[in-house]
Amino acid sequence: MKASVSEECIGCGMCEGICPDVFEVGDDGLAHVIVDEVSADVEDDAKQAAEDCPVEAITIE
Ligand code: F3S
Repeated sequence: MKASVSEECIGCGMCEGICPDVFEVGDDGLAHVIVDEVSADVEDDAKQAAEDCPVEAITIE
């Protein structure tokens, strides 16, 4: 499974709070995916982050 963050991100930080193994808010104030592949044990958290992102900037596939 892969995750990505679009330019819609407003840097609210929710995703990092829910799933810090996958998402990190960088110095640019925007979230970045810090893994190539989302590991099975954090898939649910990554999906939750995508659901909870207020601007739906996260895609999981
Ligand atoms: Fe950005 Fe959404 Fe995360 S706005 S910081 S991708 S929760």
